[in-house]
Amino acid sequence: MLLKKGVAVFIIEYTIKVSCGKGKWNMSEKAKIKVNDDGPYLVKGEVEMVDAEGNVFETKKSFSICRCGHSNNKPFCDGSHRKVGFESEPRAD
Ligand code: FES
Repeated sequence: MLLKKGVAVFIIEYTIKVSCGKGKWNMSEKAKIKVNDDGPYLVKGEVEMVDAEGNVFETKKSFSICRCGHSNNKPFCDGSHRKVGFESEPRAD
């Protein structure tokens, strides 16, 4: 989806489940997703990422999800965004 000139939004086809630990939300362990300028989504914290069939991706406590669409290791970032000159600097209002 093109919001304005040069800024595109990609629909992520994966689900990120945030682990709440024994059914209770622990704010000190709240997961965080950072939208990196001209790069991937950086995910930190206890999360579980699954594919469309519910299969769990093996991840570390911190990992990057491709936002440019050019990774050869989707859904993870492989650094290809630099080669293709991906540009996007969205800001929360
Ligand atoms: S954002 Fe890094 S390869 Fe796509």
